[in-house]
Amino acid sequence: MRALVMTAPGGAENSEIREVDTPRPAAGEVSIDVACAGLNFMDVMARRGDAGYASSWPYRPGLEIAGTVRELGAGVTDLTVGDRVAAVALGGGGFAEVTTARAELTVPVPAAVPLQLAAAAPLGLATALLLLTEAGRFTPGDTVLVHSAAGGIGSAVAQLVPLLGGGRLLGTVSRAGRPVPGYDTVFVRGSDLAEQIRASNDGRGVDLVLDPLGTDALDLDLAVTGPTGRIVLFGNAGGGAPASLPPFGRLLGGNLTLTGFSHRSLVTGAPEKVAAATRRVLDYLAEGELSLPVTELPSLDDVTGAHDLLASGHGAGKYVARIK
Ligand SMILES: NC(=O)c1ccc[n+]([C@@H]2O[C@H](COP(=O)([O-])OP(=O)(O)OC[C@H]3O[C@@H](n4cnc5c(N)ncnc54)[C@H](OP(=O)(O)O)[C@@H]3O)[C@@H](O)[C@H]2O)c1
Repeated sequence: MRALVMTAPGGAENSEIREVDTPRPAAGEVSIDVACAGLNFMDVMARRGDAGYASSWPYRPGLEIAGTVRELGAGVTDLTVGDRVAAVALGGGGFAEVTTARAELTVPVPAAVPLQLAAAAPLGLATALLLLTEAGRFTPGDTVLVHSAAGGIGSAVAQLVPLLGGGRLLGTVSRAGRPVPGYDTVFVRGSDLAEQIRASNDGRGVDLVLDPLGTDALDLDLAVTGPTGRIVLFGNAGGGAPASLPPFGRLLGGNLTLTGFSHRSLVTGAPEKVAAATRRVLDYLAEGELSLPVTELPSLDDVTGAHDLLASGHGAGKYVARIK
């Protein structure tokens, strides 16, 4: 079968499509004929060699997929060959004609949901939902500040906030001109950002910050978050060494909660939470309550070029590749 393989840390020069052996499911797993696979910035972090993202080299990327169950591993009883499913491809391997996934992270896709949308559910949409709910304790009416709002997670958050009761959405981007649908106000990150954010919120602090920028914007986050507000750190897009966390007094004095979120750790530590979030977003999609605009790449051969876009910070919204 065909699969995308990253041969060594670097860039597109080390990505190639290869013929590889078709994987068989181990106990507790299923194999899946992949119809579509979602792209994520974590593919890029693996590709450039950020510590902890590629399990080994050569690395097979692709973390979220949708397709049909091909074969059941020993002990799998709640899925059937031929079921339409969405799954987390734990450790990668999703940009391939066949992949394996743990049964507990494989969720049936309702008939009304096209597989190209379902492929954005297990990681992208589930992360956005869990950031808002589990990590961010979103309450209707909250003002939410999202850094890097033009990306896949930023666009998913914009779709979910109205569904969770609605709130005010403020986004930041690194440069002007990036499309950021669904946000009330978008700011280009720059020197007087804290004042601009407060001014846009009637001088009040925001209730929730979703921050994938490592600790680069943490000082700003602390400055713009109001009493009882929450700051969720969930990425390190720049890939550098994060700075130390703020002193006790800033959290205590600000009545602030600083928390972290990692989908990658949650799939091993509490897979049922990821599966439940995936089911919930698929149900929203099936009911027509949620729509996520996705850019569909026609084939596996187009994934590396789209990874280049994400790596250069020029992606817009969510990308899903058609595999078969
Ligand atoms: N913790 C988790 O479980 C989890 C799960 C999914 C995603 N994430 C993180 O969430 C972020 C968004 O993910 P995504 O899949 O939505 O990615 P995406 O669509 O590729 O968007 C990434 C955004 O990051 C910004 N960025 C900041 N520094 C960058 C750099 N050095 N190189 C390239 N882009 C940079 C860019 O926006 P601006 O330039 O406008 O800021 C870009 O639009 C990523 O940092 C990712 O690692 C974390």
